[in-house]
Amino acid sequence: MDKNSKIFVAGHKGLVGSAIINALKAKGYDNLIVKTHAELDLCDFAQTQAFFEKEAPEYVFLAAAKVGGIYANNRYRADFIYQNLSIQNNIIYNAYQHQTKKLLFLGSSCIYPKNAPQPIKESYLLSNELEYTNEPYAIAKIAGLKMCEAFNLQYDCNFIAAMPTNLYGENDNFDLETSHVLPALIAKFHQAKTNSANSVTLWGTGAPRREFLHSLDMAEACVYMMENIDFKDLIKESQEVKNTHINIGYGSDISIKELALLVQKIVGFEGEIIFDASKPDGTYQKLLDSSKLNQLGWRPKITLEQGIQKVYEWYLKQK
Ligand SMILES: NC(=O)c1ccc[n+]([C@@H]2O[C@H](COP(=O)([O-])OP(=O)(O)OC[C@H]3O[C@@H](n4cnc5c(N)ncnc54)[C@H](OP(=O)(O)O)[C@@H]3O)[C@@H](O)[C@H]2O)c1
Repeated sequence: MDKNSKIFVAGHKGLVGSAIINALKAKGYDNLIVKTHAELDLCDFAQTQAFFEKEAPEYVFLAAAKVGGIYANNRYRADFIYQNLSIQNNIIYNAYQHQTKKLLFLGSSCIYPKNAPQPIKESYLLSNELEYTNEPYAIAKIAGLKMCEAFNLQYDCNFIAAMPTNLYGENDNFDLETSHVLPALIAKFHQAKTNSANSVTLWGTGAPRREFLHSLDMAEACVYMMENIDFKDLIKESQEVKNTHINIGYGSDISIKELALLVQKIVGFEGEIIFDASKPDGTYQKLLDSSKLNQLGWRPKITLEQGIQKVYEWYLKQK
């Protein structure tokens, strides 16, 4: 990728897309193309095709998606499978048709089986049943990475896929109905502190363990992969399974209870935390094995405590 290569970041207003834009700009890439959802609906094939015909981007970061937490994934199952399949089908097919040199597709750790051994290696894909609550989303993401792999093998494309762990950072979604656990905790504890509430009630038992990566680290990893890793590097490593995807994780996990205590401390809420065990916990543990990416030369820099502190400062500025 040259500094003046034409680069399309799909979903540039989102948590990941906005961080990728910042990481690219910081490295001197200055020929970036962006379109808001209102300007270009990536679920619409004709609009996406017309965009690729006009712009013919050389590199594509596919960070546009319908994304949400457990509640939204379970409640809006049809929207999650239909919109994600449409967005990725339209972009990947048009990237192939318009000779995009390289594409990075963003998936998620929920592509792996719910009872996968920990830490989760790339090769555990499709080895067992998925978690039912987010199955439609996971199926769409698996289809996306397999579509990249299929286009590479049949048409000699260079489409790779990143499977990040749970992400958090600036521009996150803090809406309590649709947000992920970490921004939801920040919003809940902040509200409780502002209202001088005695307690905060959280979903589930607090026992599940999760891994969190700051979106700035994630964006750096995406740019690193686009600059340094090709499909041929991945098949070299594994001749039998032609994995197109690479895990991007922080390297260690934390229980939701420990996370809640950390966020409580950073926000400065002094009341009680109540865990509502009648609400679902989801998968017990999700820790990615990121050794493949580490061996290919990338590691995260921002600790969880530093990261939450940064996000809370950002959140306060927005208020
Ligand atoms: N956040 C995480 O913890 C996490 C973890 C692992 C993987 N990922 C992956 O990273 C990628 C980006 O996630 P994110 O957290 O950055 O999501 P996000 O903050 O919701 O951003 C997604 C972006 O895509 C845009 N978009 C959605 N539908 C679109 C459409 N039909 N046409 C054009 N644009 C559309 C959204 O625009 P509007 O808001 O205007 O609709 C938004 O700007 C996803 O593939 C996700 O699977 C995220």
